[in-house]
Amino acid sequence: MGKIKQNYMILAIDTSCDETAAAIVMERKIISNVILSQIEVHKPWGGVVPNLARQEHQKHISQVIDLAIKRADSLRKKFKLGKKVSWQNIDAIAVTQGPGLAIALEVGLNKAKELAKKYHKPIISVNHMEGHLLAFLGLNAKGNGPLAKTKILFPSLGLLVSGGHTQLVLVKNIGDYQLLGETLDDAAGEAFDKVAKMLNLGYPGGPIIEELARTGDPLVFDLPIPMIYKPSLNFSFSGLKTACLYKLRSIQEKKKNKQFYADFSASFQRVLTKSIIIKLKKAIKMNFPRQLFLGGGVINNLYLRNEIRKLAYKWQIPVFIPYSKNLISDNAAMIGIAAWYQAQKRQFVKNIDVLDRQPNLSI
Ligand code: KG4
Ligand code: ZN
Repeated sequence: MGKIKQNYMILAIDTSCDETAAAIVMERKIISNVILSQIEVHKPWGGVVPNLARQEHQKHISQVIDLAIKRADSLRKKFKLGKKVSWQNIDAIAVTQGPGLAIALEVGLNKAKELAKKYHKPIISVNHMEGHLLAFLGLNAKGNGPLAKTKILFPSLGLLVSGGHTQLVLVKNIGDYQLLGETLDDAAGEAFDKVAKMLNLGYPGGPIIEELARTGDPLVFDLPIPMIYKPSLNFSFSGLKTACLYKLRSIQEKKKNKQFYADFSASFQRVLTKSIIIKLKKAIKMNFPRQLFLGGGVINNLYLRNEIRKLAYKWQIPVFIPYSKNLISDNAAMIGIAAWYQAQKRQFVKNIDVLDRQPNLSI
């Protein structure tokens, strides 16, 4: 197996949930990262409606891909990328196979297959969670990023907290992972969204709750810390969600003033974070990771991030977070980064006709 060519160029596609996303990456460099959010479409329903997600992906996928190529090419001179960003020079197509919403994943997969056949390109199928896990390896078009100069060390630990997943992953090598723990019911982001819905705050709930919590007292409401006495590294947030519901029912409407919303948000955020920190600490004690990698939309939460940093500091473990918000939440650039590591091992899809979505794909 000869050395893979320099400046290997991947077009990456992700349609796993409610973002239609396409990106151009050259090795670890992210040249373009187009994300079309469907938030406004799902907002009235207080959560993602699979059928609507599929329709929206279908409507916009071609445009999003064209824009990713065009945008990347327009930056070619500025960042001295050399070759033109065009179908002629794209080396492979990366696409999310799962996990995610079946009918949403299907749109991206079908598009990837169609383009692979039309332009005679290989396909690299990617696990969405591996994308979140390796997103911190992404560099900007100038080649700067959290791991531009430092080396990745093993074993390391990944903490992935999103709207669909909450996972602790032991990284033995790139491509060699062990799932240490995951949520047994709701994901952390889902809990944020559902509690926000109970409070009539809007969707998605995470950023709204974080903002309200800033002026709240986290000790006003006594909520249970999930899974505190369970020895496993799994998470569970549905009990906390139910506890929130009962607590809210017990409070008179007239007492629900501005300060109430702030205090409730802060109290909920504190116990949810505490639960994550307890499991993270356990995972660190058991595995002595050399680095900690964070990913997934909930990692945008600065309260959670600070608590993670405090814990990691105590254990002298460096923490790596993707360099931009657009790499933390759902996006296609992270799929391109994960695909670049597969390309180096020549892990291409052998028969694209049988490539199928895997909604429950595990890491
Ligand atoms: O990773 P992501 O964009 O999509 C999934 O793969 O799920 O994560 C979306 C989730 C939503 O549940 C949203 O409420 C949550 O991330 N989120 C946050 C914050 N920003 C986004 N949760 C808490 N605090 C935030 N600042
Ligand atoms: Zn995701």
